[in-house]
This record gives sequence, C-alpha cells and structure tokens, in this order.
Amino acid sequence: MSSTPFPPDLLRDVAKRRTFAIISHPDAGKTTLTEKLLLFGGAIQLAGTVKARKSARHATSDWMEVEKQRGISVTSSVMQFEYQDHTINLLDTPGHEDFSEDTYRVLTAVDAAVMVIDAAKGVEAQTIKLLEVCRLRNTPIITFVNKMDREVREPFELLAEIEDVLKISCAPVTWPIGMGKAFRGVYHLLQDNVLTFTPGEERRSDAEVLSGIANPELDARYPMEIGQVRENVDLLNDASPPFDLEEFLAGKQSPVFFGSGINNFGVQEILQALIDWAPPPQPRVAGTKGSDTRMVQPAEPAFTGFVFKIQANMDPKHRDRIAFFRICSGRYSSGMKVKHVRAGRDMKLANALTFMANERVLKEDGVAGDIIGIHNHGQLQIGDTLTEGEVLGFKGIPYFSPEMFRAARLRDPLKSKQLQKGLQELGEEGAIQVFEQIGGQMLLGAVGQLQFEVVAQRLKDEYKVDAIFESADIHTARWLTFPDEATRRNFEREQALRLGKDVDGNPVYLASSRYNLEVTMEKWPKVGFHATREHG
Ligand code: G4P
Repeated sequence: MSSTPFPPDLLRDVAKRRTFAIISHPDAGKTTLTEKLLLFGGAIQLAGTVKARKSARHATSDWMEVEKQRGISVTSSVMQFEYQDHTINLLDTPGHEDFSEDTYRVLTAVDAAVMVIDAAKGVEAQTIKLLEVCRLRNTPIITFVNKMDREVREPFELLAEIEDVLKISCAPVTWPIGMGKAFRGVYHLLQDNVLTFTPGEERRSDAEVLSGIANPELDARYPMEIGQVRENVDLLNDASPPFDLEEFLAGKQSPVFFGSGINNFGVQEILQALIDWAPPPQPRVAGTKGSDTRMVQPAEPAFTGFVFKIQANMDPKHRDRIAFFRICSGRYSSGMKVKHVRAGRDMKLANALTFMANERVLKEDGVAGDIIGIHNHGQLQIGDTLTEGEVLGFKGIPYFSPEMFRAARLRDPLKSKQLQKGLQELGEEGAIQVFEQIGGQMLLGAVGQLQFEVVAQRLKDEYKVDAIFESADIHTARWLTFPDEATRRNFEREQALRLGKDVDGNPVYLASSRYNLEVTMEKWPKVGFHATREHG
C-alpha cells in the first residue's frame, strides 16, 4: 500500500479538512459557540437557529416528543461548512439528558476538540469525563474560556485549575482585559495586539485592533485595567511556556482563548486556530488479516472508514437508521461498491447523506475527515469497517464501562424471545450495553439515564415488547482478560455470581461496589480488569 503514490487531488482535499467536536459541561456555552461558528462559516444566516432547536429538545422530557425531534437531531449531528478555503466538519456531542455513550464515541471520529469552560465555574464534571476520552487518542484540544462579560474567576486561577484537574498544560494565546461590565477585550500574545470589546455590541470582523502592549492609547482608554494586564503578560512571558505546535498536536498542551460566545467575541480566533493549528485528518491504526496492524494514510487512494454512531431515524415503520461513518482514506462516490469487512460481503453505497447545517442533502463526494450518513437496516454496527476490498478493522472505538445498571423483566413472560432479540440488536447497535448473567438474567448498562428510556421505547415500538427495568445491585462492570486457561476456570468457579457476558460473548465482572471490585482485583492480581473495550 505504502508504495502507491498518493493522488494529488486527494492530498489537496484532505489537507483542507478539519474535523472537530466541542466538549463542555452543560450550560458552559457549547450551543452558543456552535451557532456563532456556523454564522461565521456562513452555514446559517440567522442567529437563534441552533438555540431554537436546543430549546425545542429541552422543552420536554417526554421521550416521544424527543423522538419527534429526531429528524432535526439527525441533521444537527454533523455540520459541514466552508471557511477560508477549508471544509470544516463539526460533530455534535449531545449534552444534558441526551448524554450517553454516543458522546464518547463521537470523539473517536474527530481530529481535534474545542473545550468550552465557563469562566465563572471552571472545570466541571462532564468536561473531566470528556477530556479523559480525548486523552485515549491524544486528541489536540483548543480551550475557550467563555462568559468573560460576566463577573468570573481570575484567569490565572482558571488556568491553574485546568492544568491541575485536567492534566494538560495551558498556553494562553489571548489574555482578558478586565471582566464583567469592565471586560474591554483581549490582548493577543502572539500577535502583540489588543482586540477591543464594546459591551452590548457584537464583535464584527472589522472591530478595532490596537497594536502593541505598550501602546499609549491603551493607557488612555483603559487606565484602570491596563497596568494589571501588562504585569500579567510579563508574568506569562517569564513563567509560562509559549504555545508549541508540536505539544498541542501531541495532546499535551492546549492553546487558551478568552472570550464571550454570546457576544461573538473570540469566536473568530477559535476558527483561525482550527485552520492554522488543528491537524487535518490523521493516519489511523487498523488491524489487518492475522494479528498485524498498519497505518491507513488519509490520502491513500482506496476508500476506508468506520461507523462510530447509529441513530434511529424519523420513520419508525421502516426501522430505518442512519449509520454515521467517518471516512479514513480514499474518496466516497455515490453508487460505489464496498466491502463490509465483518460480514465478509459486498454492499453498494448509494444515497449517503451529508449534513449541511440545516438540511439533509445527497452527498456526491467525500474524503478523509468527512462524515457520511448511510441508511442502515441493521447490517451495520458501531465499529464496522468498510473498505474497497482490503480486510482491515479500525482500532480504538471504545465501549465504556457503564455507570448505571437495570435488570430487564417482562410484563408478558411469553415474549422472552422477542426481548432477547431486541436487546441483542440494540446492544449490537450501541444504543445500550447488554450483559447476560448466569441463569439468563438480562442486564442493561448505560452511561446516561436517557439510554434506558430510549431502549424501553424502542423495545415497545420496534419489537412489541413491554419490559420493566428494575434497579440492579451493580456498581460497575469490568471486562476480563486471563493469563491462562486454569486461572480463567478458577476465577469463573469462584466468582460465578458476579460474572456476565456482553453481546459479543466477552466475560465481564459485575462489581457490587467499588470496595468489592478493589478486593477482587487484589485477590486476582493476574486477571486483567478493563474499564473500556474496543469494538470488533
Ligand atoms: P450549552 O450548550 O453548553 O448547554 O450552553 P448554551 O450555549 O445553551 O449556553 C448556556 C447559557 O449561557 C445560555 O443562557 C447562554 O445564553 C449563556 N451564554 C453563553 N455564552 C455566554 C457568554 O459569552 N456570556 C454570557 N453572559 N452568557 C453566555 P440561558 O439563560 O440558559 O439561555 P438563553 O435564555 O440566553 O438562551
């Protein structure tokens, strides 16, 4: 493969791609930033479009109502737009009550992430979790400290918290001048100029820029704030390491921007950072026949990619779903024939969808970094690889150890076959994790509460099964690996009551408490207890 020269048109198109997600704790400002990015990218004309969608989704907690909105949420899962001769793919990570394993898996399909921090609240719980997932692949992170137009925490304190809690070093690129009512703008450390902010006014691209931190105009305008800013900038220059592209690309250092999403302030700098610094689609490791692996290069001529998310579609009658597929190499063209590696058969890829901010359009063309939506009638699962004939499988699409468990029980015991089938299929699709315990009890595991509601509703609609989910005495699950057969047999004998199998038949330890897990791990030091497992 590596001897094949990369076609110049592919090299050119791939270099122009930027595929990223925004990660944040609910309410930090992800929706607002998404909207402003789309406005700058010309993908939407009207402020309020994305927000209206969000409030429509949140106006109700009733799942059926959420279901009605699904057509919308399918289209807003991926937003592609053009900016400065680049094609940007923004992948939505569901937040709030939508939060589920999907969120985690979306992060396996991006090459970079923008982390939004609420400057008043600092690092919050969900951000910590999401960053852990980014770390699995050393995804480069751009940090946006939002809401500087409010009374917030001191910038040095925020940076220290990001570094301490998230274990990533910070390189401020802009530095705030004041905050709240006295927020005047930011000083750009690399460009040595001040981008001014006028409260109540959205920043335009022709907003005033004052050059040089020593500029006397700054003393005249901001007599109360500028002294402090100069001191801080001196301190930063002395004490904090400057932005280093290589460290950023390795996921070790994050460039930090201060701003206010709602006021459009700092948004353009984020887009510029994505274009200038975020990586184009990266090579990916794939397992080949036997136990070898190889790097798949994005500009290789042969088409490859993997499914990272499956979403039920609008029309429940047809049980049609969309498989979200990240292209890793080659070029997609409508009608092309591909190999479904796991199933070992060919399939035709026609009418794949792309998602242009607002509407679904037929996709004619796509290269590495782009996401296409494939109509799926159950043939595709999360982690599935499609190629132009080569037998390979992409690595690193994880299952995460669930944090909530429910035991599934039927109202009508005669329907146990349907329940089994439904849970098996929903488990394979990645809607929920399904474990079978000794004695055939079916156990569901989820990362977010909404997953249970979705599964209950889908079992009813699609499999005609009315199931009750009862609380289960399980705290967490760990996938098991054994050093040898004898250890496996001993472990299974002694721990039979706490054992289960996932949908693919892998052995799992179902711990009743953290303490129980710790004790068991101590007792069986040679057995591997894993919090994540890869698909496939
Ligand atoms: P999310 O998607 O991360 O959950 O956050 P979202 O963008 O919805 O923002 C959460 C709240 O924070 C919203 O207020 C939003 O207007 C506000 N916000 C976002 N960016 C800024 C900012 O730069 N400065 C200030 N002061 N506020 C900001 P809300 O009251 O919940 O909603 P709304 O009534 O404003 O729509």
